[in-house]
Amino acid sequence: MKKYLLLFFVSTYVFAQNKTLEQKVDSVLALMTLEEKVGQLVQYSAGWDTGTKTREPKEGHEELIRQGKIGSFLNIIGVEQTRRLQKIAVEKSRLGIPLIFGLDVIHGYKTTFPIPLAEACSWNPDLVELSARVQAIEASAAGVNWTFSPMVDIARDPRWGRIMEGSGEDPYLGSVMAAARVKGYQGKNLKDDNTILACAKHFAGYGAVEGGKDYNTVDISERTLREIYLPPFKAAVDAGVGSLMSAFTEIGGVPSSANKLLLTQILRNEWHSDAFVLTDWNTIGEFLVHGIAHDLKEATKIAIEASIDMDMESNGYHLYLAELVKEGKVDIKYIDDAVRRILKAKFKLGLFDDPYKYCNPEREVKVTLGEDLRRAAKQVALESVVLLKNENNLLPLNENIKSIAVIGELAASKEDPLGPWAQQGIPETVVSILEGLKNKVGNRIKINYAEGCKVDSEDKSRFEEAIDAVNRSDVAIVVIGETRDMSGEAHSRATLDLPGVQEELIKEIHKTGKPVIAILMNGRPLTINWVSENIPAIIESWYLGCEHGSAIADLLFGDFVPSGKLTVTFPKGVGQIPLYYNHKNTGRPYNPENPRFTSYYIDFSLEPLYPFGYGLSYTTFEYSNLKLKTEKIKAGDFVKFSVDVTNTGKYEAKEIVQVYIRDLVASVTRPVKELKDFKKINLKPGETKTVEFELPTERLKFFDINMNYSLEPGRFKLMVGPNSKDLLETEFELIN
Ligand code: GLC
Repeated sequence: MKKYLLLFFVSTYVFAQNKTLEQKVDSVLALMTLEEKVGQLVQYSAGWDTGTKTREPKEGHEELIRQGKIGSFLNIIGVEQTRRLQKIAVEKSRLGIPLIFGLDVIHGYKTTFPIPLAEACSWNPDLVELSARVQAIEASAAGVNWTFSPMVDIARDPRWGRIMEGSGEDPYLGSVMAAARVKGYQGKNLKDDNTILACAKHFAGYGAVEGGKDYNTVDISERTLREIYLPPFKAAVDAGVGSLMSAFTEIGGVPSSANKLLLTQILRNEWHSDAFVLTDWNTIGEFLVHGIAHDLKEATKIAIEASIDMDMESNGYHLYLAELVKEGKVDIKYIDDAVRRILKAKFKLGLFDDPYKYCNPEREVKVTLGEDLRRAAKQVALESVVLLKNENNLLPLNENIKSIAVIGELAASKEDPLGPWAQQGIPETVVSILEGLKNKVGNRIKINYAEGCKVDSEDKSRFEEAIDAVNRSDVAIVVIGETRDMSGEAHSRATLDLPGVQEELIKEIHKTGKPVIAILMNGRPLTINWVSENIPAIIESWYLGCEHGSAIADLLFGDFVPSGKLTVTFPKGVGQIPLYYNHKNTGRPYNPENPRFTSYYIDFSLEPLYPFGYGLSYTTFEYSNLKLKTEKIKAGDFVKFSVDVTNTGKYEAKEIVQVYIRDLVASVTRPVKELKDFKKINLKPGETKTVEFELPTERLKFFDINMNYSLEPGRFKLMVGPNSKDLLETEFELIN
C-alpha cells in the first residue's frame, strides 16, 4: 500500500511541475493525514552528547521521522548527519516530505564574523549583505537549510545581553540592516544550493524587557511597538524573509507567541506575509509559567489559533494538536494554513526537487573555513570598528616606534573575539590582537605582552609585570572590556562598568606617562567615563570574529582608516537608562538656564558619554552648505537637498553622512529627531563632495492619533551631520 501511495505522490508531484507553488503545496496537503500535517509543525533539537561532542536526535525521534511526525530539526551539525536523517524522512516515511534543518548562524557558521551590533556600526548594508551571503555559503555547505537570523530586535537598554545580537537602537538603521541580512542569507533564489532560509526574530518587542533583564516583562504601548520595534520586522518581511521566530516575552499581558495582534492582525492581515512562524524554545510550554494556560493542551490551542506555525521543543503540537482537532476544539483550517506555509518554504528551498542538495560532503570540505571566507570576515571587521577618541593624532601608530606593550587578558584571547553566538567557530580559527600585532610587525618592533589582570577578578598581583612591560615600551595598547560570555542570551548586567580591576590597571598604566591606547572588546556600551576622560586614544572593537587581531593591527598602523559609527548610545551611568537619541521632547525639557521643574537629574548628567551615530576617523570632515531644493514639498514627492562634505585632514577616508528629521507639530508627540537616511562616502584629503539626498515623504509617516500610518502636513526640521548631535539644520514644509 505504502509503495503505491508513494508512487501516486511522486507521479502527482512530477505531473505538478507545471502547477503554481500553491497548487503544488495543495496537492501534497491533500495526501496528508492529520498526524502527518501535525508532524510538519513539530521541531525538535538534536541532543548534545558532551562525551562524543556530537549532536544526535533524541531518543525515539528517528522513529518519529519515519512516521512523518517531525518536520524539522535544529542543532543538527554536518552533512553526514543531515543526510542520514533526511534519508529517513524522504525514503522511509509514507509521503517522503523532506525535513528542514535550522541552526543559529547569527554571525558565522565556522568562519566567525563580527557580532551583528559591530557590523551595524559599519553603516554599510552592502557589506552586511555580503557577510550574510558568505555565512550562508558556508552554512549551506554543512547541511544547514535555515538560519535563525537576523535578530532584528531594537535595543535601547545596554544592560540587556542580547543588544550585541541586533543592530542597535534605531528603527530605520535596524530596518536597513534587517533587509540586507535577509537578502544575504536568501540570495537571489532560495533554490540555489548556497542560499538558506532566513528567520527574523524575536517577534516582537523582546528588546524592551524591563530593566534590561533578559526574558523579563515587556510593557510598551502599541504605538511604541509599531513605531520603534516593528519596522525592522516589516523590512525583513518586505525583503521576503521566509520565516519569523516569536519571542519568549509578553507585551502588555499577552505573550508574543500567543499574540493575535502580532501574529494574525499585523503579520497576516496588514503585512500579508506568508512567512511561517516558529516559536522560540518551548514558548508554548511557557504559557503555563506566564499563567495564561492551565496545561500544555490548552497552551497548544492558544498557540495554533494565534497563528503559530511550528512548535520548537514544547511537545505541545506533537502531543495534543491532532487530539484537539478530533475533539472539535481546534478547526483544521489552522493546521492546514500552517502546513501550507511550511511546505511552501520547503518547495521554495528546492527540498522537494532535491532533498539532498545541502548534503554534499565534498562541498562541505571544499567550502568550510576557506581563505576567501576569512577575507570577507576581515573586510567586514575593518568597517565595524569605531574610533572613539584620538587625541593629538596618537593614531595611527608612528612607524618609528621600537616597542609596544600589549596588555590585558583579552589582548591574547583567541576565544573572546568569537563573541557570544559563535556557532561552530573555534578559538583556533581566531587571530588574537596580540597575534595580529606580532604578524604585522614581525621583528621590526618588539612586542612586550603582559596580562595585567583577568577580566573578571579582583586580583591585582600581576599589575607590576604589566607596568614593567609598559615602562620598557614606547607605547601601550591596553585591551579592556568583557569576556564573550558577559553578553548574549541570558547574560544581562545590572552595571555597565568595566568588570574586575581593569579600570584600576589602566589607571596605573596611565601613571607611567607613556602614551596609552585603549581597545574595547565588549558586547554592549560600557560606562568607561574615566578612560574616556584620561586615555588619549580609544577604539571600540566589539567582538570582530576570526580576523579580530589582523583587523585591529591594520587599523592601528593606518593601513585602514576607521569609519564605523555607533548604533547604540553609550550612557555615562546606568542610572540614565533608558537613554536613546530619538527621545520625545516632553512638556518640560531640560532648561540649563533654569533647570528647576524641568526634566533632569539633580545629581547626574543628562548627556551620553558617546551619542548615537558617533565615530571618528584619522582625518577630519567639515559639513557646510545644507540646501533644500524647495522649501515646500508635496505629499508623495521627495524632500530634495544636498550638503557639502570636505575632508579637511590628511588621510583618504570614508564618512557616514546622517540625515535626521523632526516633525515639529503633529497629532501625537514626535521624537526630537529621527534618522531617516544616510550615505557612506569616500573622500580624498582636501576633497569636497556635494552629497545629494532625495528623501521620500513616505519616510515621514507615523502612527497618528487614530493609529493610522499616515502623513500629516506641517513643518519639519531637517538635520544633517556626522552623528546625532553635531548637525546642520534647516526646515521644510510638507503640504497636501
Ligand atoms: C534560544 C534563542 C533563539 C534561538 C533559539 C534556538 O533560546 O532565544 O534566538 O534561535 O533558542 O537556539
